[in-house]
Amino acid sequence: MNRFALASAVGLLMLGGGCGGSSTSVTSPPPPPPPTASPDVRADYLVSQMTQDEKVQLVHGGVTTSNPVTPHGAAGWVPGIPRLNIPDLYLADGSVGVGNGVGQATALPSSIASAASWDVNEAYKYGKVIGSELSAYGINVNLGGNINVIGREPRDGRTFETKGEDPVLAGKITAAHLKAIQDQYVIAGIKHFSLNDQETGRGQANVLIDDRSGRESDLLAFEIGVQDSGVQSVMCSYNLLNGTYACENPYLLTTVLKGDWAFPGFVMSDWWATHSTAAAANAGLDQEQPNDTYFGNLAQAVQSGQVPQSRLDDMVHRILRAMFAAGVFDHPASLHAIDVSGDDAIAQEAEEQGAVLLQNNGLLPLNGSTLSSIAIIGSHADTGVLSGGGSAQVTPNGGPALTEGNPCPPCWATVIWDPSSPMTAIQAKAPGANVQSNDGTNASTAATLAASSNVAIVFVSQWASEGMDLPSLNFTDVIHSTPIDQDALVAAVAAANPRTIVVMENGGAQVMPWLNQVAAVLEAWYPGERGGQAIANILFGSVNPSGKLPITFPASVNDLPRPTIAAPPDSTSIFNVDYTIDGFNVGYKWFDTKNITPLFPFGFGLSYTTFSISNAQLITNLSSSNPNFQVSFSLTNTGSVAGAEVAQVYLGLPAATGEPPKRLVGWQKVLLQPGQTQNVTIEVDENDSSRPLSYWDVKSLEWQVADGEYSVYLGNSSRNVNLVGTITIGQ
Ligand code: BGC
Repeated sequence: MNRFALASAVGLLMLGGGCGGSSTSVTSPPPPPPPTASPDVRADYLVSQMTQDEKVQLVHGGVTTSNPVTPHGAAGWVPGIPRLNIPDLYLADGSVGVGNGVGQATALPSSIASAASWDVNEAYKYGKVIGSELSAYGINVNLGGNINVIGREPRDGRTFETKGEDPVLAGKITAAHLKAIQDQYVIAGIKHFSLNDQETGRGQANVLIDDRSGRESDLLAFEIGVQDSGVQSVMCSYNLLNGTYACENPYLLTTVLKGDWAFPGFVMSDWWATHSTAAAANAGLDQEQPNDTYFGNLAQAVQSGQVPQSRLDDMVHRILRAMFAAGVFDHPASLHAIDVSGDDAIAQEAEEQGAVLLQNNGLLPLNGSTLSSIAIIGSHADTGVLSGGGSAQVTPNGGPALTEGNPCPPCWATVIWDPSSPMTAIQAKAPGANVQSNDGTNASTAATLAASSNVAIVFVSQWASEGMDLPSLNFTDVIHSTPIDQDALVAAVAAANPRTIVVMENGGAQVMPWLNQVAAVLEAWYPGERGGQAIANILFGSVNPSGKLPITFPASVNDLPRPTIAAPPDSTSIFNVDYTIDGFNVGYKWFDTKNITPLFPFGFGLSYTTFSISNAQLITNLSSSNPNFQVSFSLTNTGSVAGAEVAQVYLGLPAATGEPPKRLVGWQKVLLQPGQTQNVTIEVDENDSSRPLSYWDVKSLEWQVADGEYSVYLGNSSRNVNLVGTITIGQ
């Protein structure tokens, strides 16, 4: 060994031999494992080469008071270690497109619209847009997979980011998003773990729930999302669970996530949601974000014996392992322009597949050639479409069509209208019609315009954002200092012209006092930057709607488990949010159990054609070791236009289990030409991550299939099903 090589080996020894290092002899470091080695082996090698300071550097964000700005406009940043070729991590939001600090990007329709497609292949395309655009901006960690089962609190301001109330649908759709993101070599994230189902007092809310109820609801959605996607990061949430903050909760982070689910990746905190050093690290938190308030002290905590060295090494191992598994080392992001036209096409398709036709007395689809006048009323429909606010906000390609200030609460998020004018798209569908707009601020002038038009299309909107919950489920104007009463607007327009269509731009469930007065209602969600075109395509029948509700629309907030949202007494006190009331009976399971008729049930959505189901059969005894079953049937398009139907299989467990009357266990979206019949088989597999036949047994702490009779239902919504047959297990 020459002098320089020796010096370099000694240097490495000294670095490796700092606090926590264990080398005692002077040797050259072993060569790194080849790229073909497993992520675990490659991560172990790097951990073995790191000093204690380097290890601590990876387990917290790089934002400091002297260095408050993150590169690439990211929400978070972890500086890499050039000596070991460990790249920087740049973390950015992206639930509905790339988060707005990063730059202009494709504003997709809200995630709840992606869930309303009930189509995992569509969801994969949606996730691919997010992953590829993040990568084009040099971002290698996404913070987007919001899967809080917010049907517990439909007024939650973040509902638009989520995938609805059913853990299986939400889990499968989220898994498709996350897999697509990681296929672009971006570490995907699933959040906020867990039971973070309201924004009101989110940092002080102590959620009360029992093990079984949690495992069969919110946690099941995460479990499916984690197992099916191979997602490499999990973000723990602001709230407490049964008395302990989520980001230092050993039950959540270690027992359930890393133990029962064998999650191999890393847990990062939500922004400033870390509350301790040793308690958080020992509970299973691997990375504090966005700064180092608590985990900057980890070396001292190890030295004093409060945190084992093995735990710090495990934290670092998990972060590096995630980077290898997702391809961050082997496929570094290279800055390039995003594919605006390709991604816009997917944004439009996602909206066309996810918009839900809620009512139609025959007025839709419109025929552009027979209309001489159309009134377009409300919600800046002459300009653009609404988007949801907060960290999930996207700055659309080309910039916003309009911004409208920062409503308070949350006081920091800007109202952004995406640049896709429904009026322009509607005019293109009816070139001969006189299309006029009215801003909807004055119900009487709007009604006058409606009265003199062939058809009136009222756009109603409900802005929502992280940092707030909605005051009600009515269309409440939280944007303007003089609120527009949109319910009164619709009623006045419908009274003036019975040919009134309502298009809703909102993030979740709504109540509709005017429902019986209008001819048609289209739930467009926040429709994204091609929303105007998608809405016009549906209204004029170029696209046949096929979306189905991923969330129950109640008739009244009084029908919810908690008619009012629990709120903290002041800005610091911990307060309880009681989820033992509904337990695992979230959303439609609550309405079924309590026998309450919703306004629109989970799974509901109309089409311009009609379908029939025939020859439904239950096929059992497929395997001696597994109570799998199949539902086979013929699905026929009995109408005159092509269309897609979502056939849904629900299962009722034996009454002794105490489970709700039915749970979603399978579905298939089938596109059929007029008159076409297709034989469909939906398999329900107990080995699937959704554990369709099981309940969580608190004695064995395992999923168990109970003895007794199971009822199998088939239909096209949670409230429109027929019994196909029963299965008896163990008797
Ligand atoms: C949100 C997270 C987000 C983070 C970074 C937090 O306020 O709750 O969802 O990823 O900010 O922007």
